[in-house]
Amino acid sequence: MKAALEKIKETAIAVLEQTTEMKAIEDLRVKYLGKKGEVTAILKQMGSLSAEDRPIIGQLANEVRAAIEGEITKRLAELKEAELNRKLKEETLDVTMPGTRRPIGKKHPLSQVLDEVKEIFLGMGFDIAQGPEVEYDYYNFEALNIPKNHPARDTQDTFYINDNILLRTQTSPVQIRVMEQQKPPIRIIAPGRVYRSDAVDATHSPLFHQIEGLVVDKGITMADLKGTLEIFAKRLYGDDTVCRFRPHHFPFTEPSAEVDVMCFACHGEGCRLCKGEGWIEILGAGMVHPKVLSICGIDPEEYSGFAFGMGLERIVMRRYNIDDMRLLFENDLRFLKQF
Ligand code: DAH
Repeated sequence: MKAALEKIKETAIAVLEQTTEMKAIEDLRVKYLGKKGEVTAILKQMGSLSAEDRPIIGQLANEVRAAIEGEITKRLAELKEAELNRKLKEETLDVTMPGTRRPIGKKHPLSQVLDEVKEIFLGMGFDIAQGPEVEYDYYNFEALNIPKNHPARDTQDTFYINDNILLRTQTSPVQIRVMEQQKPPIRIIAPGRVYRSDAVDATHSPLFHQIEGLVVDKGITMADLKGTLEIFAKRLYGDDTVCRFRPHHFPFTEPSAEVDVMCFACHGEGCRLCKGEGWIEILGAGMVHPKVLSICGIDPEEYSGFAFGMGLERIVMRRYNIDDMRLLFENDLRFLKQF
């Protein structure tokens, strides 16, 4: 029996040393030390031993059991550590490796310049107003002193939803909406999309952007209009910018003007950029027509105002010397990345 126990101990330890799976080690525990295990089997036969041998074999059996138990614990710990080391090695992060750079987008040139224009006017105490792109004929034309059959409608043909509802051709209807809602003093700009039934070419697009401006208060004069727009032009194009106010006609302003800036490429000489004119038109403006004030419930005897409207695409094209408007809408990254 003694020999059998010694043998079990020897084989068990040898086998355990070879075993590399935790599960297999648990199986070996059952095989040797379990209820039906080999050591237990020997202990069961102890009844047949003499009184002197019994404690000796008993003690030996306990030693064998403890030795196997110890080996199992040791092997399990070793395997656990090996597993941890393997994981640590496999999953290490080299924080000094270069990362994958994701390209960072940026604002479209139209948005960049619009942000600048907004900043300039916010700095002069203007608020930002908005109006719908799907607009009533009344706001887009009628209330702006452009009745049905007025020739100004010809140049602003648009997309009609029905007889009374259309895609706005200008941001000027926001003037009417603001004056209906708000009593003077009024000082707003209204940027937004506008639509016209124009074929696409280098200078036309059926969708483009305008920025409207409106100031109404007591005692507003043409001098306020000129001062405001000159400051605007200088902030946008530089301090040496020279402005020119040319008489013009708009149905909703009286008097009306178009504002040009001296061509910054040729300084008035005439070049390709300004088409030989020496000047570049940037916006339309004028004193709000008394009729328009009245329509909105503002007494033209008490209040006066000025308004202006500019095309954002034009301003951007001039700013960056872009000669084809289509580039602004095609979303070609090779183009957009330049700004
Ligand atoms: N709405 C005009 C257009 O689209 C531009 C314009 C001219 C707006 C004069 C104004 C203004 O507010 O006073 O052609």
